[in-house]
Amino acid sequence: EGVTALQLKINGTVRTIQAEPRVTLLDALREYMDLTGTKKGCDHGQCGACTVHVDGRRINSCLTLAVMQQGKEITTIEGLAKGDELHPMQEAFLKHDGFQCGYCTPGQIMSGVACVKEGHAGSDDQTREWMSGNLCRCGAYPNIVAAVREVAG
Ligand code: FES
Repeated sequence: EGVTALQLKINGTVRTIQAEPRVTLLDALREYMDLTGTKKGCDHGQCGACTVHVDGRRINSCLTLAVMQQGKEITTIEGLAKGDELHPMQEAFLKHDGFQCGYCTPGQIMSGVACVKEGHAGSDDQTREWMSGNLCRCGAYPNIVAAVREVAG
């Protein structure tokens, strides 16, 4: 299988990588662009550690090919803060201790942002439902929900 040029717009910057067409978006980010904030947990759509936004909607980056995401706006955890200013969801995770080991945190935060933005944080139950694809083996769930609640207002 040949290597091809893939153009991806990540956090506002267009980048070109040389990769096989079968490379997942997750591997493109981590292995080809050094954007290792996005985590690989299960690599088959079951843990949410790899959550990013594509055109403002969250996806599991392990489940999509990079080639399919050309021409779209991809946002990773690295693109959330504005310079030194953290995103409100990042601030809320800090304030509420929304993590322990931290491995699931980038995915949790990306899902949390989408949860509020897409109007799924009307109640804690709604938030838990929306966030149910993001697993936390440390069990920080109550604190994660508290963080999302704070941002949702
Ligand atoms: Fe993609 Fe687990 S690594 S859902």
